[in-house]
Amino acid sequence: MTQIDPDQAHPARIYDYLLGGACNFAPDRAFAEEFLRVLPTAADAARINRAFLQRVVRYCASQGVNQFLDLGSGIPTVGNVHETAPGSRVLYVDNDPIAIAHSEIELAETPTARALLGDLREPETILEAAASVLDLSQPIGVLMLAVLHFIPDPHTAVARYLSEIAAGSYVAITHGTMEGTPDGRGDVLRLYASSGSPATPRDREEVARLVGGMEILAPGVVWTPEWRPERDVVGDPAESLTYAVVARKG
Ligand SMILES: C[S@@+](CC[C@H](N)C(=O)[O-])C[C@H]1O[C@@H](n2cnc3c(N)ncnc32)[C@H](O)[C@@H]1O
Repeated sequence: MTQIDPDQAHPARIYDYLLGGACNFAPDRAFAEEFLRVLPTAADAARINRAFLQRVVRYCASQGVNQFLDLGSGIPTVGNVHETAPGSRVLYVDNDPIAIAHSEIELAETPTARALLGDLREPETILEAAASVLDLSQPIGVLMLAVLHFIPDPHTAVARYLSEIAAGSYVAITHGTMEGTPDGRGDVLRLYASSGSPATPRDREEVARLVGGMEILAPGVVWTPEWRPERDVVGDPAESLTYAVVARKG
């Protein structure tokens, strides 16, 4: 499990800085500024990812799903799952103690949502905790947004979650990729590797393989802004740096 180390940049706090949050330390800010220097669209990419979270949670809610397992949930910022689908049951899971400490404060008045310090690579532990918050015999939404690229081999763990969820459940993933047009991503990968959180970008096919066996919803594996946009997509969608996919368990 990750310990709090204020001298080491951490993905949760880098992302928080990119979103304009205040839960970050000097090394996180230095990393994020360097990130923005080599990839100036990185802050937009973070916001695009957060907007996708809201679209997919609203979609699941429209399909009658009112419980969510958010793996690699990060530091709660405005528009998180329980705010997007009020009254739904939510288990947030992150391996960063700071993200969880902030989530607990944020959730103090929300009895239907809980935060768990945990590693998504340990599905048995997470599923056991999930069963105390969610009814796993009923459909749930599993979110793995901007997290699986921090895991070198996520297939076994992801498959375990997919095997345990009830028919009618949804899985949503956003995932960093080296495909597309933006320059500077080689530098970003070197930056992450030097911070102790190496990233593994994946191509469209590999992202589809993560939800193998499930029905991938239209429009398929697409740049994140292109997944059922609620307004016109402006600019180059590849600047989101991530692919998005939503799949349903039949
Ligand atoms: C870029 S942030 C994304 C946050 C949120 N999912 C979103 O999309 O807004 C990635 C998060 O994944 C978390 N994380 C990385 N590896 C993890 C693991 N093995 N288990 C649980 N969380 C992890 C990090 O701590 C960080 O909060």
